[in-house]
Amino acid sequence: MVEAPNPFSPSFGTSPPLLVGRDEQLTVFIEALEEGVGAPGRATLYTGQRGSGKTVLLNALEDIARRQGWHVLSVTARPGVAHQLARTLIPQEMRDHHPEQARTSHVTGFQGTAAGFGGGISRTGEDRFPVEPSLRHALTALAAAAAQREAGVLISLDEISSNAAGDLQELCQDVQHVGFREGLPVMFTAAGLEPSVQQLLADVPGVTFLRRAERAHLGPVGDADVTRALAEPIAHFDKSIEPEALDRMVTGTQGYPFMIQLVGREVWRAARGQETITARHADLGVDRANRRIGQLVHQPALMELSPTDKSFLAQMALDDGPSSIAVIAQRMGVNSNYASQYRLRLIQAEIIHEAGRGQVDFSLPQMREYLREHATHDALRPPGGSSPSSSHLTEPQDRTSRPSRQERRRPPGSTSSGPAGPRR
Ligand SMILES: Nc1ncnc2c1ncn2[C@@H]1O[C@H](COP(=O)(O)OP(=O)(O)OP(=O)(O)O)[C@@H](O)[C@H]1O
Ligand SMILES: [Mg+2]
Repeated sequence: MVEAPNPFSPSFGTSPPLLVGRDEQLTVFIEALEEGVGAPGRATLYTGQRGSGKTVLLNALEDIARRQGWHVLSVTARPGVAHQLARTLIPQEMRDHHPEQARTSHVTGFQGTAAGFGGGISRTGEDRFPVEPSLRHALTALAAAAAQREAGVLISLDEISSNAAGDLQELCQDVQHVGFREGLPVMFTAAGLEPSVQQLLADVPGVTFLRRAERAHLGPVGDADVTRALAEPIAHFDKSIEPEALDRMVTGTQGYPFMIQLVGREVWRAARGQETITARHADLGVDRANRRIGQLVHQPALMELSPTDKSFLAQMALDDGPSSIAVIAQRMGVNSNYASQYRLRLIQAEIIHEAGRGQVDFSLPQMREYLREHATHDALRPPGGSSPSSSHLTEPQDRTSRPSRQERRRPPGSTSSGPAGPRR
């Protein structure tokens, strides 16, 4: 048998063989695209933890816009991005798609209609003393040209944070002006990690537009969708799978989008050369995926945290299920208020979530296990003190008092499942 290529793609920014569980976001976007200026969803800010699928959702939305004939300006929010749009990307689109207007016209205004379509643009002749186009000017020109073809411009911005504060201020003000005040067909999608977005919205003036944008949080995906995300590519590439094997794979992902691809890939590898994926292949693959997720997701996530954050997490890892804040504070040798501040930071970072009154639990699959294996002595030391005797991860636990938890954990505000979006 000739082995088909592995269909699964556990890699950041790489679109999956089947995008699942994001139907709501796709529908809102399509409606906004069709309804025109003023529709909710013309400007949307997506947040979610690492690997929740922000970039691949942006990819899917961009594809939809392209299929409708829209110009898509897809960028990462780095310093210099406003300049990149004004001087490189928009002029390139103008040259490629509106060569007449790019060469001879200088757009000075636009008469929009309520829907943003069908207005007219006014121009002066060629400028003998051309100035470098501002972002607002370039965007106006492109959107006006697109409007004449009943299309528009989508600005899709990934990884937003206050690192690109100046550019985001300029971009927000110009998108608001062109797309919302002038009534030109401009849509705006942006994505970022929740703490980066919170910080940006709180600390950076001039991004009111972003604060008013629609918000969508990308949470875990429901079991029915995970099942489809795994089963359909497997069937498409002519392998079959035992129902028990599929169940084990679904459970192994814990609904975490990155893990869907990682489990899929590892199970496929385990079943290499076989026509049917069995429960044994599934167990092998899930096991490998559990070992790999630490290096791919947990390690980079933990690197961004302070020693006290890590200490807090290491103390949580002592528990087999949700941890009590009061107990964590006690283990760290700090008071509850102090521990609560760290609890809040870690919740905002989407590393942990509330799990009942005064309790928290890990949000990322396998993080407890990863910490148990890797937490260093340093990470366990309480701030300014010596290691409490209870801080060793290897300390025997009273396992009878805590339920062993394997069930799905859902952070607050998570979205649910829905039919699949487009394939890539
Ligand atoms: N809805 C989904 N269905 C199936 N697979 C998904 C889905 N969303 C994401 N994935 C897969 O998860 C992985 C991570 O996706 P992506 O890179 O978009 O995450 P992200 O949220 O942008 O992460 P980061 O915050 O690190 O940039 C990719 O391999 C992608 O194919
Ligand atoms: Mg991303």
